[in-house]
Amino acid sequence: MRAMFEIRGLSKRFGGLQAVKAVDFDLAEGEVVGLLGPNGSGKTTVMNLISGVFPANGGSIRLGGRRLDGLPAHRIAKEGVSRTFQLVRLAPSLSVRQNVLLSLSFGARPVSGREAERRADEALSRVGLEGVGDARVPDLNYIDQKRVELARAVATRPRLLLLDEWLAGLNPTELRAAIALVGSLRDDGATILLVEHIMEAVRALCPRSIVMRAGEKIADGPTAEVLNDRRVVEAYLGGAAHV
Ligand SMILES: Nc1ncnc2c1ncn2[C@@H]1O[C@H](COP(=O)(O)OP(=O)(O)O)[C@@H](O)[C@H]1O
Ligand SMILES: [Mg+2]
Repeated sequence: MRAMFEIRGLSKRFGGLQAVKAVDFDLAEGEVVGLLGPNGSGKTTVMNLISGVFPANGGSIRLGGRRLDGLPAHRIAKEGVSRTFQLVRLAPSLSVRQNVLLSLSFGARPVSGREAERRADEALSRVGLEGVGDARVPDLNYIDQKRVELARAVATRPRLLLLDEWLAGLNPTELRAAIALVGSLRDDGATILLVEHIMEAVRALCPRSIVMRAGEKIADGPTAEVLNDRRVVEAYLGGAAHV
């Protein structure tokens, strides 16, 4: 059987830097997989390639058997890929609901009018922001801004959700709430690729993890095993202070 999502030989060069080197992996429908690695190892670049922020130099990306590589970002969104960014990117002058409506107009099946407003409010309550639709983004605290970003990503009912350090910067109480929220998306059957440095979150949410070092995939398997893998431990010791 073919995997729901499949990456083969994915490569990206920035000038003289090979940021992603022939990376392969599959995701099954409903899987929540951690994408780990020290700073600069190429995780965000993989997310950017999947979502079409920029084109790959080589390799293929398939969702449900359809090629995504080579498509522009808005077409990839229509194919069912949604993402959050490492830094929150919301339109500050718009209301919370308008921010979610914006993403709905780019989704797989664009909706408008009352139906779109209903879907936006449904997404907002899904992430714990019931009744907050009329607020302005700058008036929200940090975790609620992150919730808006997640609402934008889930409102389109994506087939694949990419979370890039969505849990970063939260205090311990907020972190627990945020882990529970992502866990509830998983329980609803979401397929998620999760870039994350917070190992408590990775252990709680990801039965399986993939680890990158200097653009290469160096491990892929059950999270507990991967985190004990000698190459992974060395990558972190030699790379960054995280973990
Ligand atoms: N748009 C870009 N232009 C040039 N270099 C980039 C760009 N994006 C990432 N890089 C470089 O690619 C490497 C991988 O970066 P990145 O994917 O952001 O790593 P990670 O998310 O794992 O910390 C780094 O050396 C980074 O400086
Ligand atoms: Mg990154």
